Amino acid sequence: MSIPKTIVALLTISSLHLLLHITASSNGPIKTIVVLVLENRSFDHMIGYMKKTINPSIDGLNGDECNPQSTQNPNSQSICVSDDAQYVESDPDHSFEAIKEQVFGSGEFPSMSGFVQQASSVSPNLSETVMKCFSPSSVPVYESLVSEFAVFDRWFSSIPGPTQPNRLFAYSATSHGATSHVKATLLKGVYYQSIPTTLFFRNMRRLRYVFKFSEFGWNFRADARKGRLPSLSVIEPRYFDVVGSPGNDDHPSHDVAEGQRLVKEVYEAMRAGPQWNQSLLVVTYDEHGGFFDHVSTPYKGVPSPDGIVGPAPEFFGFDRLGVRVPTIMASPWIKRGTVVRSPKGPTESSEFEHSSIPATVKKMFNLSSDYLTFRDRWAGTFESLFTELDSPRTDCPEVLPDVVPLRKTKAKEDAKLSQFQSELVHLAAFLNGDHYLTRFTDEVTKRMTVKDGHEYVGRAFSRFVQASKEATELGAHDSATVDMRPSLTSRRRVP
Ligand SMILES: *[C@@H]1O[C@H](CO)[C@@H](O)[C@H](O)[C@H]1NC(C)=O
Ligand SMILES: *[C@@H]1O[C@H](CO)[C@@H](O)[C@H](O)[C@H]1NC(C)=O
Ligand SMILES: *[C@@H]1O[C@H](CO)[C@@H](O)[C@H](O)[C@H]1NC(C)=O
Ligand SMILES: *[C@@H]1O[C@H](CO)[C@@H](O)[C@H](O)[C@H]1NC(C)=O
Repeated sequence: MSIPKTIVALLTISSLHLLLHITASSNGPIKTIVVLVLENRSFDHMIGYMKKTINPSIDGLNGDECNPQSTQNPNSQSICVSDDAQYVESDPDHSFEAIKEQVFGSGEFPSMSGFVQQASSVSPNLSETVMKCFSPSSVPVYESLVSEFAVFDRWFSSIPGPTQPNRLFAYSATSHGATSHVKATLLKGVYYQSIPTTLFFRNMRRLRYVFKFSEFGWNFRADARKGRLPSLSVIEPRYFDVVGSPGNDDHPSHDVAEGQRLVKEVYEAMRAGPQWNQSLLVVTYDEHGGFFDHVSTPYKGVPSPDGIVGPAPEFFGFDRLGVRVPTIMASPWIKRGTVVRSPKGPTESSEFEHSSIPATVKKMFNLSSDYLTFRDRWAGTFESLFTELDSPRTDCPEVLPDVVPLRKTKAKEDAKLSQFQSELVHLAAFLNGDHYLTRFTDEVTKRMTVKDGHEYVGRAFSRFVQASKEATELGAHDSATVDMRPSLTSRRRVP
């Protein structure tokens, strides 16, 4: 199983620090939070140009931000930002080493000067791609949400590295209560479309939680309409791009128009429901995906979550943040056109980053649990955003703009799996027991196409749910986790 070590570390940490007691009632006006994490786009790439068109106080782009071809040679040609991003075919590099080069160039300070140099080392024409940003009219749903609600223009991904840990930082609020003996836990819903990545948290595989996963298409709209959205829910996008069911996680090469549609659908369902007056929608991105951003990533006074150090040769201490990502919040308790910059504490160096979500949830719901790591103890919180109005706004748009596809071609479902998609296949193999087969190695995953992967994770997850259902009917304790075997028999393991 090739889940990076950092994830394993995070999982261990978060399961160690789970809380024992929950009072699922919120202090402020917000009682229903919906979190949607999309993939791999920087702030400037998605939102930077809204400084010009929507609000000059957004820390976005002037249009003259450039990166040299070579950070060693001051006379080398530069490539500057432009507002003509469309459909992005290739996936820029965003490994740990690549991000270091993008952020630091060849110096010691995060000058954000190495994006072009790093991209051209991968492919010559990628260097323009990473500097291209969307014109606001190409992302009309964000154009509308940024005008109407709040944009955070200093929100960073938690670590300058791959997706999974970042996503888990954002979701770790969902594991609040995962070992609790109290019935009322905060999280009652994960709305998934491919396979819930929240299952990377082992605790979330317990019988008690398995039935809280529901298929987005069937359930979200209905739950919103009936006023049945839980205190905290997570919406997981579609991570696989297949014909008839396009990827909507915004990861290149997936069309951002699909992500826009997903955000629109979620917002409109919430807006139309009886819970709207107590709701908050949070949209953010796990990481920047190799795209340019001009804001220096914080590298001083950032605590390591758990003191764990990464592998040689870097020995990364997890003590600086990743690149700035788009974060938008919508709620009738947010003033029109709000721009949120830095938090006021809890420490002088605190910033908004993905751990700000669990940290704020903890405050808003008065959770008596400990913090999950040193990071959410340090991260800025945003509960004060909802205290500025005396009553919920009545002028929030009911409908967001329609979205036109930017991609003219069909989904490339015969493509090889991306690294993240392979991780999802491994997760699925873990759920359905295939990981016990020595044959089911990285090689099987390597041969899979996106379409194969999509079908495989769908099947594996439903078998796991089915087996969990049977275990429950047989009287298994709700703290048990089904441990499937490839022979289709299921056994349960009571920890
Ligand atoms: C990059 O250049 C190659 C070779 O000229 C071409 O095949 C490819 O489509 C280009 N990619 C993009 C994203 O423009
Ligand atoms: C939300 O609050 C506004 C203002 O108080 C009120 O007019 C409206 O009817 C409320 N909507 C719902 C669905 O409760
Ligand atoms: C928050 O929890 C503490 C105990 O953990 C309790 O004393 C306090 O009254 C609670 N506040 C609210 C607003 O529920
Ligand atoms: C986003 O980038 C990370 C870092 O390289 C990568 O591991 C991940 O696979 C990408 N996300 C997706 C959904 O492919």
